[in-house]
Amino acid sequence: MATHLITGAGSGIGAEVARALLERGDEVWLLARNAGRAKETAAQFAPVAEEHGGRLRTLVGDLAQPSRLSWAFGHQTMPAELDSLLHIAGVVDLGRVDELTPKVWDATLAANLVAPAELTRLMLPQVRLVRGHVVFVNSGAGLHANPHWSAYAASKHGLKALADSLRGEEAAAGVRVTSVYPGRTATPMQVKVHRQEGKEYDPQAWIDPASVARTVLAAIDLPRDAHLTDLTVRPGS
Ligand SMILES: NC(=O)c1ccc[n+]([C@@H]2O[C@H](COP(=O)([O-])OP(=O)(O)OC[C@H]3O[C@@H](n4cnc5c(N)ncnc54)[C@H](OP(=O)(O)O)[C@@H]3O)[C@@H](O)[C@H]2O)c1
Repeated sequence: MATHLITGAGSGIGAEVARALLERGDEVWLLARNAGRAKETAAQFAPVAEEHGGRLRTLVGDLAQPSRLSWAFGHQTMPAELDSLLHIAGVVDLGRVDELTPKVWDATLAANLVAPAELTRLMLPQVRLVRGHVVFVNSGAGLHANPHWSAYAASKHGLKALADSLRGEEAAAGVRVTSVYPGRTATPMQVKVHRQEGKEYDPQAWIDPASVARTVLAAIDLPRDAHLTDLTVRPGS
């Protein structure tokens, strides 16, 4: 039974990944922003864990406050080893550069970049122990920055840099690192994006979050002789 730690399991892409891993009977640690969300998310997945013999654990850590993660984890039971560390949580706020305030920049960079770096730092010993895998769910915006997307795109460009550096640093330890770059995906985040863009939302037009989840699983399932480093996923037709 493999052990995974996943952020963002309460919604969208992360929820689909968590469900798929529990359906395999794996042990899944869900990181939630507070105790209330941890309880709700655990309740959401308890039936699937029970049906398939998967093990469900929760961790509380607010990714909006990366510098407090270390303290928060010091007061909780942590996984002893991790076959995969799956960074899926994220936030978005659109706006022109002449509108975006430092508050938006700070919140976006904290949740999308600094928290994944800090969580990786804190969990690497457990990942190294089993020559595990670190996956960052990035975005097309991590490769190209369009108008109105500066803060989010900057955070995701930074996330690519984090993944690329980590891959080089950890190769000798046998740790694999994958960035997944989805296009628009039908999740609550995309509903918010459409609202901010003033556009009508049609979920059928975008990638099913379960399909993005399959790409994450493809990366971690690959045999050790191969290393999927970067995966771009676009809406199909
Ligand atoms: N949807 C898209 O079109 C799209 C496209 C490309 C890339 N992505 C990326 O895919 C990833 C997943 O996005 P999604 O569309 O599935 O988004 P989503 O449905 O909005 O889910 C985001 C998840 O992140 C969690 N989260 C946010 N802030 C947090 C915090 N401070 N502490 C702990 N958890 C926090 C949320 O927790 P709560 O459940 O407690 O709110 C939620 O579970 C993100 O990294 C996003 O940037 C999405």
